[in-house]
Amino acid sequence: MNILIAYHSDYGNTKKMADAIAAGIRAANAALQPVLKLAEQTSQDDLLDADVIFFGTPVHMGSMAWPMKKLIDEAGKLWMEGALEGKVGGVFVSGGGFGNAGGGVETTMIALHAHFLEQGMVIIGFPKHLSGYAEGGLHWGAYGRSGNHEGMPASISDASLVAARSYGAHVVEMAEKII
Ligand SMILES: Cc1cc2nc3c(=O)[nH]c(=O)nc-3n(C[C@H](O)[C@H](O)[C@H](O)COP(=O)(O)O)c2cc1C
Repeated sequence: MNILIAYHSDYGNTKKMADAIAAGIRAANAALQPVLKLAEQTSQDDLLDADVIFFGTPVHMGSMAWPMKKLIDEAGKLWMEGALEGKVGGVFVSGGGFGNAGGGVETTMIALHAHFLEQGMVIIGFPKHLSGYAEGGLHWGAYGRSGNHEGMPASISDASLVAARSYGAHVVEMAEKII
């Protein structure tokens, strides 16, 4: 099974989540070697080669960062061909705050889901029984909040990285049943 984790990160929080998702996948099955790529370095062939695709982004002004949107828009030609149909997708998003999930984490996750669904992919959510759900899980996917209670930049918590790890393992476990 080929697994791609494509993400954008300016300050390293979303990258920490991408690394945690990869670690969770490897811990669940040492034979799996997920490929991590920045969105701007992700090609159409990378998408085609993957059986499982994770997209991760920080929230920027209530939605995804533009390099992720660029990748999605460029994948429009794959939509013309139905080339991503049947692949399995998962999403992770980091926001600053305020509010538990930040301002726009959920809408950003839904925007990523919309893309996966448009491509005919199968989305795996984040069920509440997984480790870390209370700190880093939303039913849409894994999230991390990097702002502190004063709304200033800080860092996502180790607890939210536990959630990202268990989410990575879960998506792949589900993909093994589907593919
Ligand atoms: C241009 C810009 C816009 C942002 N807009 C939001 C926002 O709308 N809601 C939010 O919760 N955080 C917002 N943030 C904060 C980032 O989402 C947050 O710091 C995130 O954890 C950064 O991830 P990164 O370290 O991977 O770059 C914004 C940050 C930037 C740079």
